[in-house]
Amino acid sequence: MEKIGIIGVGKYLPKKVLTNADLEKMVDTSDEWIISRSGIKERRLAAKNEAASDLAIKAGKEALADAGLDAEDLDLIIVATITADMQFPSVACLLQNGLGAKNAVCFDISAACSGFIYAMTIAQQFISQGTYKKALVVGTEVLSSITDWQDRSTCVLFGDGAGAAVLSEVKAGGIIATHLGSCGTMNDLLMVPGGGSRNPASHKTVDSKLHYIKMRGNELFKVAVNTMSEAAEAVLGQAGLKASDIDLVIPHQANTRIIMAVAKKLGLAADKFYLNIEKYGNMSSASLAVALCEAVKEGKIKKGDTILLDAFGAGLVWGACIIKW
Ligand code: ACO
Repeated sequence: MEKIGIIGVGKYLPKKVLTNADLEKMVDTSDEWIISRSGIKERRLAAKNEAASDLAIKAGKEALADAGLDAEDLDLIIVATITADMQFPSVACLLQNGLGAKNAVCFDISAACSGFIYAMTIAQQFISQGTYKKALVVGTEVLSSITDWQDRSTCVLFGDGAGAAVLSEVKAGGIIATHLGSCGTMNDLLMVPGGGSRNPASHKTVDSKLHYIKMRGNELFKVAVNTMSEAAEAVLGQAGLKASDIDLVIPHQANTRIIMAVAKKLGLAADKFYLNIEKYGNMSSASLAVALCEAVKEGKIKKGDTILLDAFGAGLVWGACIIKW
């Protein structure tokens, strides 16, 4: 049976850079605190007229060009996002329109920072069943639109961006194993409580800042380390591989300290982990997609390499995936 693999990658980062020095002027924080606690030096911010679909269109075009495909070749588009342009229609339909991908079936999924792995897994299933052949999977976020710029405990952590990958049958390599997990009992550790059907938008919800990210970061930290390590071990077991068989880990970029703790638990050297958090912060579903794209473009992933994607996010949801490149 043919394997399903990634045949093209793309990314888009908004031009505007917000540095830690800029944040020092906005809230009671310091460059030293942000770097030592999170590893972040700067992040990108979407322009006023840029929404999640605008970022996705640019990343998607780059991934299509990288794959050598036209938009009309796509028969599936899945977008992972927690910052859709609007409640509906889906970002995937806006992306379809922007690309001219008129033959694609389009939908969004909500799996926060694990969204890109969830979306890839769904695409892989459809392709392996023979339902669709060429899928564009995108993680796109404008987290600046749900960030409370007066809350120093969250505003220093997040950024905007989009990453994309084209999935298809491949002759060699491909996805070897995936592992997904969820734990709804911890839904209250990270959420945007306002603007949905629980707390519909009103003057009261806006005045109470319910449309912003609320995070219990310290509690999340420990869960993130454990679940990312366990997800990696589970997918390695499924693939019949050891951690030492992995050439490069592309982790979700929430915090360098989380990533280094995972490295320690897996018994892997720090340089086995691809990091770009210092440039972009946490871009939720876009983080892993952008990191994968940059690792490929920088030549850090070569043909024949075995790579491990590992993510964790609000829900809680986590996922890991091993790909032979
Ligand atoms: N600048 C200076 N001081 C700060 C800042 C800041 N920006 N933010 C918080 N502090 C203070 C706190 O008030 C606290 O002070 P206190 O001790 O006087 O009360 C102190 O720093 C320590 O705060 P902690 O929250 O305990 O700091 P911690 O070391 O845990 O780091 C962080 C915080 C970076 C948020 C970390 O907990 C973390 O990364 N958590 C996980 C985040 C995550 O994984 N999110 C999930 C994915 S995101 C998604 O799904 C969208």
